[in-house]
Amino acid sequence: MKTVIGKVEVGSASVDTIKQAAEIIKKGGLVAFPTETVYGLGANALDEAAAGKIYFAKGRPADNPLIVHVNNDFDLERIVQNVPAGARALMDAFWPGALTLVMKSRAGVFSYGHLDTVAIRVPNHIVAKLLIHHSGVPIAAPSANTSGRPSPTSAQHVMDDLGGKIDMILDGGACKHGLESTVIDFSEGNAKILRSGAITLEMIENAIGRVGAPTQNDTNAPKSPGMKYKHYSPKAKVTLVKGEPEAASTKILELLNATNTSNPVIIAPSGDKKLYGNAPFIGLGRRMEEIAANLYAVLRQCDENGHDEIFAQGVAEEGIGTAIMDRLYKAATK
Ligand code: TXA
Ligand code: MG
Repeated sequence: MKTVIGKVEVGSASVDTIKQAAEIIKKGGLVAFPTETVYGLGANALDEAAAGKIYFAKGRPADNPLIVHVNNDFDLERIVQNVPAGARALMDAFWPGALTLVMKSRAGVFSYGHLDTVAIRVPNHIVAKLLIHHSGVPIAAPSANTSGRPSPTSAQHVMDDLGGKIDMILDGGACKHGLESTVIDFSEGNAKILRSGAITLEMIENAIGRVGAPTQNDTNAPKSPGMKYKHYSPKAKVTLVKGEPEAASTKILELLNATNTSNPVIIAPSGDKKLYGNAPFIGLGRRMEEIAANLYAVLRQCDENGHDEIFAQGVAEEGIGTAIMDRLYKAATK
């Protein structure tokens, strides 16, 4: 299959390109599209055969359910049994945005993932919104990477993983957040965080009161099938070192000296480069938001450069730092 790339910038030509993509969705094809978190691989969520193609293209395990993307005008009652008050409050506060809510689904609407719940998100990206609008259906979309690889934050990343396997990629440039949405489960009453993301625990608790951070156990719970698989992994071996920058850099330099891999590299906040002398180093960026936005591109770059080992310096686990560390922990777990 030839994968077409359609560049989308603001203007009428872009709307035509998005309409072309919407036709592909309506006909049961696959379109990768930008969102404010990462690129998604979209199909008509109500067409089982179309959604099935997503699993095939990504090599995704069949028991891992998909997030359904809709616009704010969508009548949720069509697909969920009821909208809990806490979920409603979070929708009001953060939709459109980087927040996915899991709720009890209506029987018989979705079969993939084999669950009686559905994860729903309203993305905040003009291209995603227009694609959903012109398709006229909810769009099921996981991240548009090969299963297990870091999520794509550019059209080129999608092409690298899925070129030849999908019908079209809408190229809307780099994604703003660079990490996947926060996933919160409301299917058992109380809110439970299944995946941290750009909407932080602090922001959620400001809106609905105490929720509590996910524990390592929660993240592995079968509740969110996706969490049990290998994730966000470059080909290189990743070692994550936590702690204050001085202590972490000392430890990393020790490990670097002792390792017998042939092409190791350090990844750390750009401001800490001075702690590493002439050791091979890739800066992740300065502010936490920048580090989040660059993380997956840097992990992919490490593979491209042929690095066989990555020493990652941890960041403080607060705000979006929690999500950055979650992804680094998972990248470091093989
Ligand atoms: O930012 C994002 O969320 C991106 C963009 C494209 O929207 N999508 C994304 O999808 O990251 P994906 O499939 O890569 O990750 C979705 C996660 C998976 O871990 C999956 O297991 C979980 O959400 N999930 C989906 N439906 C679920 C459900 N009904 N119950 C529990 N977890 C669910
Ligand atoms: Mg994913």
